[in-house]
Amino acid sequence: MPSIYSSSTAKTVSTNGNAGKTNLRSGRFTPNGIRRCLTLLLIVSCIHWAAISSPAQTMKRVFDKDTPAHRAALKFMRGVNIGNALEYTNGSPAGGLTYNSSDFTLIKSEGFDHVRIPVAWHLYCGPAPSFTISNEIFTRADALVNGALAKRLSGIVDLHHFEPFSKSPSSNTNQFYAIWRQVAAHYANYSSIVAFELLNEPHDIASTASVNRYFPEAIRQIRVTNPERTIFIGPGNYNGMAELTPPSVSTTSSGLVLPNDDLNLIVTVHCYDPYYFTHQGAEWAYDDTRTVGVVFPGPPLTPIKPDARITHSFVLDWFRGYNTKSTAINPSSTSAFRTSLRDLRAWSDYYGRPIHFGEFGCYDMADPVSRADLHRQIRDEMDFRRFGWCMWDWKAGFHYIKNGRPDPLEIRETMFPPIELKLSDSATIEFKSAVGKTFVIQRTDSLLTPVSWQNVATQTLSTPSFSHFGDTTKSDAGGFYQVLWVK
Ligand code: BGC
Repeated sequence: MPSIYSSSTAKTVSTNGNAGKTNLRSGRFTPNGIRRCLTLLLIVSCIHWAAISSPAQTMKRVFDKDTPAHRAALKFMRGVNIGNALEYTNGSPAGGLTYNSSDFTLIKSEGFDHVRIPVAWHLYCGPAPSFTISNEIFTRADALVNGALAKRLSGIVDLHHFEPFSKSPSSNTNQFYAIWRQVAAHYANYSSIVAFELLNEPHDIASTASVNRYFPEAIRQIRVTNPERTIFIGPGNYNGMAELTPPSVSTTSSGLVLPNDDLNLIVTVHCYDPYYFTHQGAEWAYDDTRTVGVVFPGPPLTPIKPDARITHSFVLDWFRGYNTKSTAINPSSTSAFRTSLRDLRAWSDYYGRPIHFGEFGCYDMADPVSRADLHRQIRDEMDFRRFGWCMWDWKAGFHYIKNGRPDPLEIRETMFPPIELKLSDSATIEFKSAVGKTFVIQRTDSLLTPVSWQNVATQTLSTPSFSHFGDTTKSDAGGFYQVLWVK
């Protein structure tokens, strides 16, 4: 994770397109003897640069609301990341967490429907040109994928922390494609609830314009062995939400461009806003995140003093707003992400492509009440906008669980709100809880033991409002009812 994150607060730091332009200009000052050759190169480079920066790349709208991707998205509604295991070199202190079947049993019983499995495949490749992936990492990845499948959890296998690609996509494309050819062939016969995610958080030179250039070819190569597999793809700037241009801003440029003819693609984005709250004290981030004791939502009871090591003035501005603004407009509140989520819903509706939040969460340096509040607010917003989500992470620094139980305990209720039940005036049963959950409605004639409950309906909550069932005034509708959440 970067120190300068792709949040709305830190958008100002972007280098990508300009670096290309600067290189081209320097060509003009080369000696005469090789000028012709360089002119040719310059033209080729210009075409290349124009291709990766062209705003003219358009994406067709999809009007069918029942594409393979829409159907698949329903299997990736509430997930958790299997973090700090396979996304590092073997033996690295940052990795090193092991997962076994009891993790997957607990993940399932808490109510999650999928896991995301980050894997640093590139660290386990042999030399070019084949970049053969070691059996060792396949065995370790298989254990996680099979562990999830054994509990009927869907799984997303990604390519994580591929830094060389972000630094120089053009010199690492062969490895990128080689990894996906091998991973795709390996999992070709796996269940359809295993999905692939091309690249976690592309950044720096791997901008959105750049991935627009390389992703279609990776998808084409995966399709050779996996014509039906769901593939997640995310934009540059660390899967930044602002990289998808909402239709209110432009209906000709979508930001991330998906191949028009592939309808089994889900877009993935990350949200760590408000970043100076969620990443406070994060050792791997830079000095801008050193201020601890930041609460959610702001403002704090007593203004806090930003850490003296902060290096960017916009971070100091953020803390000025945090100390003084009311909760409704405080930078450490839902206002940090609500508009982005609204714009993403509009993007998804306009282009007809589902969006998933592959990462969000809060480092455990924040106080437990604030952590629970952040999760409640963001989960509410995601459910309200009908996005699938996958929190970072299960049992590492941003954990859902610590020492075998949810931590803080309230996090269970914030991620999996209990069922609310009421009887409406028209005598229908109304119930609600989190979106994407499936509920069974049961009926019995009598509550005298032994009670015999019969299933009468199954419904999946597709909006965050109350769902209705039946009319209990009808002659055949009397009796007692209960609503159960099927995990
Ligand atoms: C990184 C983790 C980090 C998390 C939050 C993930 O993408 O892989 O190392 O803890 O983001 O910053």
